[in-house]
Amino acid sequence: MSQSLLCGRLAFGARYCVYGMASMLTQSELNRACMGRSKEMGCYSSNAFPDSLRARDSSCRGMKKISLKFTGSPCKFHSNPLFTCFVILSVKLLADALESSKNYERNDSEYLLLSKKLDNLTLQVNRLQDLTSKPFPRVKELNYMNKKRILVTGGAGFVGSHLVDRLMSEGHEVTIVDNFFTGSKKNIEHWIGHENFELIRHDIINPLYVEVDQIYHLASPASPPHYMFNPVKTIKTNTIGTINLLGLARRVGARILVASTSEVYGDPLVHPQNEDYWGHVNPIGPRSCYDEGKRVAEALSYAYAKQEKVEVRVARIFNTYGPRMHINDGRVVSNFIQQALQNNSITIYGSGKQTRSFQYVSDLVDGLILLMNSNYSSPINLGNPEEYTIEEFASVIKEIIGGVSPIVKQSGVQDDPQRRRPDIKRAKLYLGWSPKVPLTLGLKRTIKYFEKELIKENAKDQPV
Ligand SMILES: NC(=O)c1ccc[n+]([C@@H]2O[C@H](COP(=O)([O-])OP(=O)(O)OC[C@H]3O[C@@H](n4cnc5c(N)ncnc54)[C@H](O)[C@@H]3O)[C@@H](O)[C@H]2O)c1
Repeated sequence: MSQSLLCGRLAFGARYCVYGMASMLTQSELNRACMGRSKEMGCYSSNAFPDSLRARDSSCRGMKKISLKFTGSPCKFHSNPLFTCFVILSVKLLADALESSKNYERNDSEYLLLSKKLDNLTLQVNRLQDLTSKPFPRVKELNYMNKKRILVTGGAGFVGSHLVDRLMSEGHEVTIVDNFFTGSKKNIEHWIGHENFELIRHDIINPLYVEVDQIYHLASPASPPHYMFNPVKTIKTNTIGTINLLGLARRVGARILVASTSEVYGDPLVHPQNEDYWGHVNPIGPRSCYDEGKRVAEALSYAYAKQEKVEVRVARIFNTYGPRMHINDGRVVSNFIQQALQNNSITIYGSGKQTRSFQYVSDLVDGLILLMNSNYSSPINLGNPEEYTIEEFASVIKEIIGGVSPIVKQSGVQDDPQRRRPDIKRAKLYLGWSPKVPLTLGLKRTIKYFEKELIKENAKDQPV
Protein backbone atom coordinates (compact mmCIF):
# COMPACT_ATOMS: atom_id res chain seq x y z
CA MET A 1 0.00 0.00 0.00
CA SER A 2 1.36 3.43 -0.86
CA GLN A 3 2.35 5.83 1.86
CA SER A 4 -0.27 8.41 0.90
CA LEU A 5 -3.03 5.79 0.96
CA LEU A 6 -1.87 4.72 4.36
CA CYS A 7 -1.94 8.29 5.58
CA GLY A 8 -5.40 8.71 4.12
CA ARG A 9 -6.66 5.74 6.05
CA LEU A 10 -5.08 6.90 9.25
CA ALA A 11 -6.67 10.27 8.74
CA PHE A 12 -10.03 8.59 8.25
CA GLY A 13 -9.73 6.72 11.53
CA ALA A 14 -8.39 9.81 13.19
CA ARG A 15 -11.29 11.95 12.07
CA TYR A 16 -13.81 9.61 13.70
CA CYS A 17 -11.76 9.46 16.78
CA VAL A 18 -11.36 13.21 16.93
CA TYR A 19 -15.04 13.71 16.23
CA GLY A 20 -15.97 11.55 19.16
CA MET A 21 -13.46 13.18 21.39
CA ALA A 22 -14.08 16.72 20.42
CA SER A 23 -17.73 16.30 21.24
CA MET A 24 -17.25 14.54 24.50
CA LEU A 25 -13.93 14.98 26.23
CA THR A 26 -12.32 17.87 27.99
CA GLN A 27 -8.66 18.42 27.41
CA SER A 28 -7.69 16.74 30.66
CA GLU A 29 -9.94 13.73 30.09
CA LEU A 30 -8.51 13.36 26.67
CA ASN A 31 -4.99 13.57 27.97
CA ARG A 32 -5.84 10.97 30.59
CA ALA A 33 -7.36 8.71 27.95
CA CYS A 34 -4.33 9.02 25.75
CA MET A 35 -1.64 9.19 28.40
CA GLY A 36 -1.21 5.46 28.90
CA ARG A 37 -0.68 4.87 25.24
CA SER A 38 1.29 8.00 24.67
CA LYS A 39 3.84 7.03 27.31
CA GLU A 40 4.29 3.63 25.68
CA MET A 41 4.55 5.18 22.28
CA GLY A 42 6.32 8.28 23.36
CA CYS A 43 3.82 10.65 21.77
CA TYR A 44 0.27 11.37 20.59
CA SER A 45 -1.38 13.12 23.47
CA SER A 46 -2.86 16.59 22.99
CA ASN A 47 -0.68 18.89 20.93
CA ALA A 48 2.47 16.87 21.22
CA PHE A 49 2.57 15.27 17.83
CA PRO A 50 5.89 13.55 17.33
CA ASP A 51 8.35 15.46 15.28
CA SER A 52 9.85 12.24 14.09
CA LEU A 53 6.62 11.17 12.45
CA ARG A 54 5.81 14.62 11.16
CA ALA A 55 9.25 14.89 9.65
CA ARG A 56 8.91 11.64 7.86
CA ASP A 57 5.83 12.58 5.96
CA SER A 58 4.82 16.17 5.80
CA SER A 59 1.83 15.31 3.60
CA CYS A 60 0.22 13.41 6.45
CA ARG A 61 -2.33 16.13 7.16
CA GLY A 62 -4.94 13.92 8.77
CA MET A 63 -2.51 12.97 11.49
CA LYS A 64 -1.50 16.51 12.18
CA LYS A 65 -5.14 17.38 12.51
CA ILE A 66 -5.41 14.96 15.39
CA SER A 67 -2.97 16.89 17.41
CA LEU A 68 -4.72 20.16 16.68
CA LYS A 69 -8.26 19.00 17.35
CA PHE A 70 -7.42 17.52 20.72
CA THR A 71 -7.49 20.93 22.33
CA GLY A 72 -10.39 21.86 24.64
CA SER A 73 -14.07 20.88 24.30
CA PRO A 74 -17.16 20.52 26.49
CA CYS A 75 -17.54 17.40 28.52
CA LYS A 76 -20.38 14.98 27.99
CA PHE A 77 -18.24 12.03 28.84
CA HIS A 78 -20.65 10.29 31.15
CA SER A 79 -23.90 11.19 29.41
CA ASN A 80 -23.76 8.56 26.67
CA PRO A 81 -22.07 5.29 27.61
CA LEU A 82 -22.30 3.92 24.09
CA PHE A 83 -20.59 6.91 22.64
CA THR A 84 -17.99 6.72 25.36
CA CYS A 85 -17.24 3.11 24.40
CA PHE A 86 -17.01 4.27 20.83
CA VAL A 87 -14.40 6.84 21.73
CA ILE A 88 -12.35 4.48 23.86
CA LEU A 89 -12.37 1.84 21.17
CA SER A 90 -11.39 4.41 18.57
CA VAL A 91 -8.53 5.59 20.73
CA LYS A 92 -7.27 2.07 21.21
CA LEU A 93 -7.49 1.15 17.56
CA LEU A 94 -6.04 4.39 16.40
CA ALA A 95 -3.21 4.13 18.87
CA ASP A 96 -2.41 0.65 17.57
CA ALA A 97 -2.47 1.92 14.05
CA LEU A 98 -0.25 4.85 14.86
CA GLU A 99 2.15 2.66 16.77
CA SER A 100 2.55 0.45 13.76
CA SER A 101 2.87 3.43 11.52
CA LYS A 102 6.10 4.44 13.22
CA ASN A 103 7.69 1.76 11.14
CA TYR A 104 6.04 2.52 7.90
CA GLU A 105 9.16 2.46 5.85
CA ARG A 106 9.32 -1.23 6.52
CA ASN A 107 8.49 -3.86 3.93
CA ASP A 108 5.15 -4.40 2.24
CA SER A 109 3.85 -7.21 4.44
CA GLU A 110 3.83 -4.88 7.43
CA TYR A 111 1.91 -2.31 5.49
CA LEU A 112 -0.57 -5.02 4.64
CA LEU A 113 -1.01 -5.85 8.28
CA LEU A 114 -1.49 -2.22 9.17
CA SER A 115 -3.95 -1.87 6.36
CA LYS A 116 -6.00 -4.74 7.80
CA LYS A 117 -5.96 -3.15 11.22
CA LEU A 118 -7.24 0.07 9.78
CA ASP A 119 -9.96 -1.73 7.85
CA ASN A 120 -11.00 -3.28 11.11
CA LEU A 121 -11.03 0.12 12.77
CA THR A 122 -13.15 1.55 9.97
CA LEU A 123 -15.62 -1.30 10.20
CA GLN A 124 -16.01 -1.08 13.95
CA VAL A 125 -16.30 2.67 13.99
CA ASN A 126 -18.92 2.49 11.25
CA ARG A 127 -20.88 -0.09 13.23
CA LEU A 128 -20.72 1.99 16.35
CA GLN A 129 -21.66 5.08 14.46
CA ASP A 130 -24.72 3.31 13.04
CA LEU A 131 -25.73 2.35 16.54
CA THR A 132 -25.37 5.87 17.82
CA SER A 133 -26.84 7.65 14.78
CA LYS A 134 -29.80 9.92 15.39
CA PRO A 135 -33.21 8.21 15.26
CA PHE A 136 -35.76 10.17 13.22
CA PRO A 137 -39.53 10.00 13.55
CA ARG A 138 -41.02 7.62 10.98
CA VAL A 139 -41.78 8.96 7.54
CA LYS A 140 -43.78 7.44 4.71
CA GLU A 141 -41.98 6.38 1.55
CA LEU A 142 -43.51 8.23 -1.39
CA ASN A 143 -42.70 7.65 -5.03
CA TYR A 144 -41.52 10.63 -7.09
CA MET A 145 -45.01 11.20 -8.51
CA ASN A 146 -46.49 11.80 -5.07
CA LYS A 147 -43.50 13.27 -3.28
CA LYS A 148 -43.67 17.07 -3.28
CA ARG A 149 -40.99 19.65 -2.57
CA ILE A 150 -42.58 21.92 -0.02
CA LEU A 151 -41.36 25.20 1.39
CA VAL A 152 -42.63 26.32 4.79
CA THR A 153 -41.74 29.89 5.74
CA GLY A 154 -41.77 30.37 9.50
CA GLY A 155 -41.35 26.61 9.79
CA ALA A 156 -39.49 26.84 13.11
CA GLY A 157 -42.42 28.59 14.76
CA PHE A 158 -45.34 27.16 16.68
CA VAL A 159 -47.78 26.37 13.84
CA GLY A 160 -45.04 25.95 11.24
CA SER A 161 -43.21 23.23 13.15
CA HIS A 162 -46.39 21.16 13.56
CA LEU A 163 -47.11 21.55 9.88
CA VAL A 164 -43.55 20.46 9.09
CA ASP A 165 -44.00 17.37 11.28
CA ARG A 166 -47.10 16.39 9.32
CA LEU A 167 -45.60 17.05 5.89
CA MET A 168 -42.42 15.17 6.79
CA SER A 169 -44.28 12.18 8.16
CA GLU A 170 -46.33 12.10 4.95
CA GLY A 171 -43.03 11.61 3.11
CA HIS A 172 -42.55 14.96 1.37
CA GLU A 173 -39.32 16.91 0.98
CA VAL A 174 -39.61 19.91 3.26
CA THR A 175 -37.50 23.04 3.25
CA ILE A 176 -38.04 25.55 5.98
CA VAL A 177 -37.04 29.16 5.96
CA ASP A 178 -36.92 31.08 9.20
CA ASN A 179 -35.05 34.02 10.69
CA PHE A 180 -35.67 32.66 14.22
CA PHE A 181 -37.21 35.88 15.44
CA THR A 182 -39.87 33.98 17.36
CA GLY A 183 -39.13 30.49 16.08
CA SER A 184 -36.77 28.03 17.66
CA LYS A 185 -34.47 25.30 16.39
CA LYS A 186 -35.69 23.03 19.15
CA ASN A 187 -39.10 22.92 17.46
CA ILE A 188 -37.63 21.19 14.45
CA GLU A 189 -34.41 19.69 15.79
CA HIS A 190 -35.82 16.16 15.47
CA TRP A 191 -35.66 16.55 11.67
CA ILE A 192 -32.23 18.12 11.35
CA GLY A 193 -30.07 15.73 9.35
CA HIS A 194 -33.01 13.89 7.75
CA GLU A 195 -32.55 13.46 4.01
CA ASN A 196 -35.98 14.95 3.27
CA PHE A 197 -35.42 18.00 5.42
CA GLU A 198 -33.61 21.25 4.87
CA LEU A 199 -33.35 24.32 7.08
CA ILE A 200 -32.46 27.76 5.73
CA ARG A 201 -31.84 30.68 8.04
CA HIS A 202 -33.18 33.54 6.01
CA ASP A 203 -35.21 36.67 6.45
CA ILE A 204 -38.06 36.68 3.96
CA ILE A 205 -37.86 40.40 3.41
CA ASN A 206 -34.95 39.39 1.16
CA PRO A 207 -35.67 37.41 -2.01
CA LEU A 208 -35.26 33.67 -1.95
CA TYR A 209 -34.59 31.23 -4.77
CA VAL A 210 -35.58 27.62 -4.26
CA GLU A 211 -37.32 25.11 -6.53
CA VAL A 212 -40.50 23.90 -4.87
CA ASP A 213 -43.99 22.68 -5.74
CA GLN A 214 -45.88 24.20 -2.82
CA ILE A 215 -45.27 27.07 -0.41
CA TYR A 216 -46.89 27.46 2.99
CA HIS A 217 -46.17 31.06 3.85
CA LEU A 218 -46.41 31.38 7.63
CA ALA A 219 -43.48 33.64 8.47
CA SER A 220 -44.69 36.51 10.61
CA PRO A 221 -44.72 37.23 14.30
CA ALA A 222 -48.18 36.30 15.52
CA SER A 223 -48.68 37.36 19.12
CA PRO A 224 -49.29 41.02 20.06
CA PRO A 225 -46.06 41.53 22.07
CA HIS A 226 -44.05 40.00 19.24
CA TYR A 227 -45.63 41.91 16.38
CA MET A 228 -45.68 45.16 18.33
CA PHE A 229 -42.01 44.76 19.28
CA ASN A 230 -40.92 46.07 15.88
CA PRO A 231 -44.04 47.24 14.02
CA VAL A 232 -42.12 48.39 10.95
CA LYS A 233 -40.49 44.97 10.62
CA THR A 234 -43.89 43.29 11.06
CA ILE A 235 -45.27 45.33 8.17
CA LYS A 236 -42.22 44.60 6.03
CA THR A 237 -42.46 40.88 6.74
CA ASN A 238 -46.10 40.76 5.73
CA THR A 239 -45.77 43.00 2.68
CA ILE A 240 -42.24 42.81 1.21
CA GLY A 241 -41.86 39.25 2.53
CA THR A 242 -45.17 38.20 0.98
CA ILE A 243 -44.23 39.83 -2.35
CA ASN A 244 -40.99 37.83 -2.31
CA LEU A 245 -42.83 34.58 -1.69
CA LEU A 246 -45.53 35.30 -4.27
CA GLY A 247 -42.76 36.19 -6.74
CA LEU A 248 -41.06 32.89 -5.99
CA ALA A 249 -44.35 31.03 -6.49
CA ARG A 250 -44.78 32.75 -9.85
CA ARG A 251 -41.24 31.97 -10.99
CA VAL A 252 -41.29 28.29 -10.09
CA GLY A 253 -45.00 27.68 -10.73
CA ALA A 254 -45.67 26.69 -7.13
CA ARG A 255 -49.01 26.91 -5.37
CA ILE A 256 -48.84 29.18 -2.33
CA LEU A 257 -50.91 29.21 0.84
CA VAL A 258 -50.76 32.49 2.73
CA ALA A 259 -51.43 32.39 6.48
CA SER A 260 -53.80 35.27 7.15
CA THR A 261 -55.62 35.85 10.39
CA SER A 262 -58.96 36.56 12.04
CA GLU A 263 -57.37 39.93 12.87
CA VAL A 264 -58.31 41.07 9.36
CA TYR A 265 -61.83 41.36 10.83
CA GLY A 266 -60.48 43.75 13.50
CA ASP A 267 -62.96 44.44 16.28
CA PRO A 268 -65.83 42.91 14.30
CA LEU A 269 -69.29 44.34 13.93
CA VAL A 270 -70.59 41.07 12.47
CA HIS A 271 -70.87 37.93 14.54
CA PRO A 272 -69.85 35.19 13.95
CA GLN A 273 -67.34 36.34 11.35
CA ASN A 274 -67.78 34.91 7.88
CA GLU A 275 -65.38 35.40 5.00
CA ASP A 276 -67.59 37.96 3.25
CA TYR A 277 -67.25 40.40 6.15
CA TRP A 278 -64.74 43.16 5.30
CA GLY A 279 -63.76 43.85 8.86
CA HIS A 280 -63.48 46.75 11.23
CA VAL A 281 -59.80 47.58 11.68
CA ASN A 282 -58.20 50.67 13.16
CA PRO A 283 -55.54 51.46 10.54
CA ILE A 284 -53.37 53.47 12.93
CA GLY A 285 -53.82 51.57 16.19
CA PRO A 286 -51.15 49.50 17.96
CA ARG A 287 -52.33 46.30 16.23
CA SER A 288 -52.47 47.79 12.75
CA CYS A 289 -48.92 46.71 11.84
CA TYR A 290 -50.17 43.14 11.99
CA ASP A 291 -53.83 43.54 11.01
CA GLU A 292 -53.15 45.80 8.06
CA GLY A 293 -49.99 43.86 7.18
CA LYS A 294 -52.11 40.72 6.80
CA ARG A 295 -54.80 42.60 4.89
CA VAL A 296 -52.15 43.76 2.42
CA ALA A 297 -50.81 40.19 2.26
CA GLU A 298 -54.30 39.05 1.21
CA ALA A 299 -54.59 41.89 -1.33
CA LEU A 300 -51.20 40.95 -2.76
CA SER A 301 -52.18 37.30 -3.00
CA TYR A 302 -55.23 38.04 -5.11
CA ALA A 303 -53.36 40.61 -7.22
CA TYR A 304 -50.75 37.95 -8.06
CA ALA A 305 -53.53 35.42 -8.72
CA LYS A 306 -55.30 37.76 -11.10
CA GLN A 307 -52.35 39.36 -12.83
CA GLU A 308 -49.70 36.62 -12.70
CA LYS A 309 -51.96 33.54 -12.54
CA VAL A 310 -50.35 32.37 -9.32
CA GLU A 311 -52.39 29.67 -7.58
CA VAL A 312 -53.10 31.14 -4.15
CA ARG A 313 -54.85 29.83 -1.08
CA VAL A 314 -55.65 32.11 1.87
CA ALA A 315 -56.32 30.75 5.36
CA ARG A 316 -57.82 33.14 7.91
CA ILE A 317 -56.56 31.54 11.08
CA PHE A 318 -58.33 32.07 14.40
CA ASN A 319 -56.73 31.68 17.85
CA THR A 320 -54.70 28.51 17.90
CA TYR A 321 -53.01 26.84 20.84
CA GLY A 322 -50.97 23.73 21.61
CA PRO A 323 -47.52 22.49 22.55
CA ARG A 324 -44.59 24.62 21.26
CA MET A 325 -46.48 27.86 21.81
CA HIS A 326 -44.15 30.45 23.16
CA ILE A 327 -44.42 30.30 26.89
CA ASN A 328 -44.06 34.09 27.13
CA ASP A 329 -45.93 35.16 24.03
CA GLY A 330 -48.43 37.20 26.02
CA ARG A 331 -51.43 35.45 24.45
CA VAL A 332 -54.33 34.51 26.63
CA VAL A 333 -53.72 30.75 26.52
CA SER A 334 -50.05 30.91 27.49
CA ASN A 335 -50.63 33.67 30.05
CA PHE A 336 -53.38 31.79 31.86
CA ILE A 337 -51.65 28.42 31.81
CA GLN A 338 -48.35 29.64 33.13
CA GLN A 339 -49.98 31.85 35.75
CA ALA A 340 -52.10 28.93 37.00
CA LEU A 341 -49.18 26.50 36.96
CA GLN A 342 -47.15 28.87 39.12
CA ASN A 343 -50.07 29.64 41.42
CA ASN A 344 -49.90 33.30 40.41
CA SER A 345 -52.99 35.42 39.84
CA ILE A 346 -54.73 34.73 36.53
CA THR A 347 -54.99 38.16 34.93
CA ILE A 348 -57.92 39.18 32.77
CA TYR A 349 -57.53 42.43 30.85
CA GLY A 350 -60.87 44.25 30.63
CA SER A 351 -64.27 43.00 31.74
CA GLY A 352 -63.66 39.36 30.90
CA LYS A 353 -66.86 39.37 28.88
CA GLN A 354 -64.97 39.58 25.58
CA THR A 355 -65.06 36.26 23.74
CA ARG A 356 -62.55 34.05 21.95
CA SER A 357 -62.63 30.66 20.27
CA PHE A 358 -59.66 28.35 20.53
CA GLN A 359 -58.58 25.70 18.07
CA TYR A 360 -56.03 23.01 18.75
CA VAL A 361 -52.98 23.12 16.51
CA SER A 362 -53.49 19.68 14.91
CA ASP A 363 -56.93 20.78 13.70
CA LEU A 364 -55.37 23.82 12.08
CA VAL A 365 -52.69 21.69 10.41
CA ASP A 366 -55.44 19.42 8.98
CA GLY A 367 -57.21 22.49 7.63
CA LEU A 368 -54.08 24.04 6.09
CA ILE A 369 -53.18 20.85 4.23
CA LEU A 370 -56.75 20.33 3.02
CA LEU A 371 -56.91 23.92 1.83
CA MET A 372 -53.57 23.75 0.04
CA ASN A 373 -54.65 20.66 -1.85
CA SER A 374 -58.19 21.84 -2.61
CA ASN A 375 -59.45 23.75 -5.62
CA TYR A 376 -60.86 26.49 -3.45
CA SER A 377 -59.05 29.79 -3.87
CA SER A 378 -61.07 32.37 -1.90
CA PRO A 379 -60.17 33.11 1.74
CA ILE A 380 -61.33 30.51 4.22
CA ASN A 381 -61.75 30.68 8.00
CA LEU A 382 -59.95 28.02 10.02
CA GLY A 383 -60.93 28.13 13.66
CA ASN A 384 -62.99 26.44 16.32
CA PRO A 385 -66.47 27.97 16.57
CA GLU A 386 -66.89 27.09 20.26
CA GLU A 387 -66.95 30.48 21.91
CA TYR A 388 -65.89 31.29 25.48
CA THR A 389 -65.79 34.50 27.40
CA ILE A 390 -62.30 35.15 28.71
CA GLU A 391 -63.70 34.78 32.21
CA GLU A 392 -65.06 31.31 31.40
CA PHE A 393 -61.80 30.35 29.76
CA ALA A 394 -59.82 31.36 32.86
CA SER A 395 -62.08 29.14 34.97
CA VAL A 396 -61.64 26.17 32.59
CA ILE A 397 -57.87 26.44 32.88
CA LYS A 398 -57.97 26.89 36.63
CA GLU A 399 -60.18 23.82 36.96
CA ILE A 400 -57.91 21.61 34.85
CA ILE A 401 -54.74 22.72 36.60
CA GLY A 402 -56.20 22.99 40.11
CA GLY A 403 -54.24 25.21 42.44
CA VAL A 404 -55.16 28.35 44.25
CA SER A 405 -54.66 31.10 41.68
CA PRO A 406 -57.14 33.94 42.14
CA ILE A 407 -58.67 35.38 38.96
CA VAL A 408 -58.05 39.14 38.89
CA LYS A 409 -59.07 41.88 36.47
CA GLN A 410 -56.96 44.70 35.11
CA SER A 411 -57.80 47.54 32.72
CA GLY A 412 -58.38 46.49 29.10
CA VAL A 413 -55.99 46.95 26.19
CA GLN A 414 -56.54 49.27 23.23
CA ASP A 415 -58.44 47.85 20.23
CA ASP A 416 -58.94 44.48 21.91
CA PRO A 417 -61.62 42.71 19.82
CA GLN A 418 -64.75 42.13 21.88
CA ARG A 419 -66.14 39.12 20.06
CA ARG A 420 -64.35 36.50 18.06
CA ARG A 421 -65.92 33.41 16.60
CA PRO A 422 -65.39 31.96 13.14
CA ASP A 423 -68.17 31.00 10.82
CA ILE A 424 -66.73 27.80 9.34
CA LYS A 425 -69.47 26.91 6.84
CA ARG A 426 -67.07 27.40 3.94
CA ALA A 427 -64.40 25.16 5.40
CA LYS A 428 -67.01 22.48 6.03
CA LEU A 429 -68.46 22.76 2.56
CA TYR A 430 -65.31 23.08 0.45
CA LEU A 431 -62.75 21.23 2.54
CA GLY A 432 -64.92 18.83 4.53
CA TRP A 433 -63.07 20.26 7.53
CA SER A 434 -64.16 20.97 11.07
CA PRO A 435 -62.16 20.92 14.29
CA LYS A 436 -62.02 17.63 16.17
CA VAL A 437 -60.00 18.17 19.33
CA PRO A 438 -62.15 19.15 22.34
CA LEU A 439 -60.91 22.11 24.39
CA THR A 440 -60.16 20.17 27.57
CA LEU A 441 -58.12 17.52 25.72
CA GLY A 442 -56.13 20.14 23.82
CA LEU A 443 -55.57 22.14 26.98
CA LYS A 444 -54.35 19.09 28.91
CA ARG A 445 -51.74 18.40 26.20
CA THR A 446 -50.69 22.03 26.18
CA ILE A 447 -50.47 22.22 29.97
CA LYS A 448 -48.21 19.15 29.99
CA TYR A 449 -45.90 20.93 27.54
CA PHE A 450 -45.90 24.11 29.61
CA GLU A 451 -45.10 22.16 32.77
CA LYS A 452 -41.97 20.76 31.13
CA GLU A 453 -40.98 24.15 29.75
CA LEU A 454 -41.35 25.79 33.15
CA ILE A 455 -39.16 23.14 34.75
CA LYS A 456 -36.51 23.83 32.10
CA GLU A 457 -36.86 27.59 32.57
CA ASN A 458 -36.52 27.31 36.34
CA ALA A 459 -33.52 25.01 36.02
CA LYS A 460 -31.78 27.71 33.96
CA ASP A 461 -32.00 30.09 36.91
CA GLN A 462 -30.28 27.70 39.32
CA PRO A 463 -26.68 28.49 40.25
CA VAL A 464 -24.20 25.95 38.84
N1 LIG B 1 -51.07 31.05 16.36
C1 LIG B 1 -52.18 31.70 16.12
O1 LIG B 1 -53.09 31.73 16.95
C2 LIG B 1 -52.37 32.40 14.79
C3 LIG B 1 -53.61 33.04 14.57
C4 LIG B 1 -53.78 33.69 13.36
C5 LIG B 1 -52.79 33.67 12.40
N2 LIG B 1 -51.63 33.04 12.64
C6 LIG B 1 -50.58 33.09 11.60
O2 LIG B 1 -49.92 31.85 11.47
C7 LIG B 1 -48.54 32.04 11.21
C8 LIG B 1 -47.71 31.28 12.23
O3 LIG B 1 -48.01 31.77 13.53
P1 LIG B 1 -47.36 31.13 14.84
O4 LIG B 1 -48.35 31.19 15.91
O5 LIG B 1 -46.73 29.82 14.51
O6 LIG B 1 -46.24 32.20 15.15
P2 LIG B 1 -44.72 32.00 15.53
O7 LIG B 1 -44.23 33.32 15.96
O8 LIG B 1 -44.57 30.86 16.46
O9 LIG B 1 -44.08 31.60 14.14
C9 LIG B 1 -43.74 32.53 13.16
C10 LIG B 1 -42.41 32.11 12.56
O10 LIG B 1 -42.04 33.03 11.54
C11 LIG B 1 -40.67 33.37 11.71
N3 LIG B 1 -40.47 34.70 11.13
C12 LIG B 1 -40.99 35.88 11.55
N4 LIG B 1 -40.56 36.88 10.75
C13 LIG B 1 -39.77 36.32 9.81
C14 LIG B 1 -39.04 36.83 8.71
N5 LIG B 1 -39.03 38.13 8.43
N6 LIG B 1 -38.33 35.97 7.96
C15 LIG B 1 -38.30 34.65 8.24
N7 LIG B 1 -38.99 34.11 9.27
C16 LIG B 1 -39.71 34.94 10.04
C17 LIG B 1 -40.47 33.33 13.20
O11 LIG B 1 -39.12 33.21 13.57
C18 LIG B 1 -41.28 32.11 13.58
O12 LIG B 1 -40.54 30.94 13.46
C19 LIG B 1 -48.30 33.54 11.23
O13 LIG B 1 -48.31 34.03 9.91
C20 LIG B 1 -49.50 34.09 11.98
O14 LIG B 1 -49.80 35.40 11.57
C21 LIG B 1 -51.40 32.41 13.83
